[in-house]
Amino acid sequence: MRFAKKDILDIRSLTKDEIAMILDTAQGMKEISERPVKKVPTLRGKTIILFFQEPSTRTKLSFELAAKRLSADTVSIAKSSSSIVKGETLIDTAKNLESMKPDVIVMRHSSSGGAFQVAQRVGCSVINAGDGTHAHPSQALLDMMTIREAKGTLENLNISIVGDISHSRVARSDIIGLSRMGANVKICAPQTMVPMGIEQLGCSIAPNMDACVENADVIMMLRIQKERQGNLLFPSEREYAALYGLNRNRLALAKEDCIVMHPGPMNRGVEIATDIADGDCSLILDQVTNGVALRMALFYLVAGGSRHADAD
Ligand code: CP
Repeated sequence: MRFAKKDILDIRSLTKDEIAMILDTAQGMKEISERPVKKVPTLRGKTIILFFQEPSTRTKLSFELAAKRLSADTVSIAKSSSSIVKGETLIDTAKNLESMKPDVIVMRHSSSGGAFQVAQRVGCSVINAGDGTHAHPSQALLDMMTIREAKGTLENLNISIVGDISHSRVARSDIIGLSRMGANVKICAPQTMVPMGIEQLGCSIAPNMDACVENADVIMMLRIQKERQGNLLFPSEREYAALYGLNRNRLALAKEDCIVMHPGPMNRGVEIATDIADGDCSLILDQVTNGVALRMALFYLVAGGSRHADAD
């Protein structure tokens, strides 16, 4: 199968077969990071620009490591050290980046739609590393990879997503992707954090946390995004932890082999208890490990793989 996409902007625009192809490719890439010499020549001569206008630890570093493990050259530009602070627009910045002939621009932007705007105006590939509250496709894909690795399939799994849904691009991308791959997705949050019409993305809304996690195969906890909330959308962190935090009692309602995930960064003691975050059910650091392989797969598919030549 040929991977025909120029850009990876959201999950909605990927078919079930394309998602499966990305996950299979990522699984194949994973062992490269286990080798004594963690480098293959696949993208030698390619240039990748990392353009992050919001803070990031996991996404930025794993995209950079992914590029380097495929032998691509990488350069970074951050908002604070770019001419955006002098008033240059996003599109002017992007056109200037394009003029330096990169093969891929990876971008994180605080505005929903930022990556779409750039992708429409540049000839190179654009990968969305998170735009506002809209989409975080590589996170959803690495989440799917991690679940599929642990459970063997995504089909018919009961997946509970709990937390600040309203501000979460991860939740939106996960709901769309997981439901497209055949999982049953249930969400739970305080009323103030449930966006209108979220069910249309492919999930049901549980009335409370216990009902949400009961019989779950996977529980994904989300960070309270205080930086996007202005006034807090709940009375206190103590109350939030009591009503929506994952602890041992709540985990006991899920299936015995339930796995726990979190995209990071975590608010320990708020949405997730420390003994759960660090416990046997937690795959939180496996998500990070898989993030490198998944992003290697994205680079390979848009810049060096079957978009350019049929891969059997
Ligand atoms: N999961 C995630 O996007 O983390 P960072 O913000 O650290 O990249």
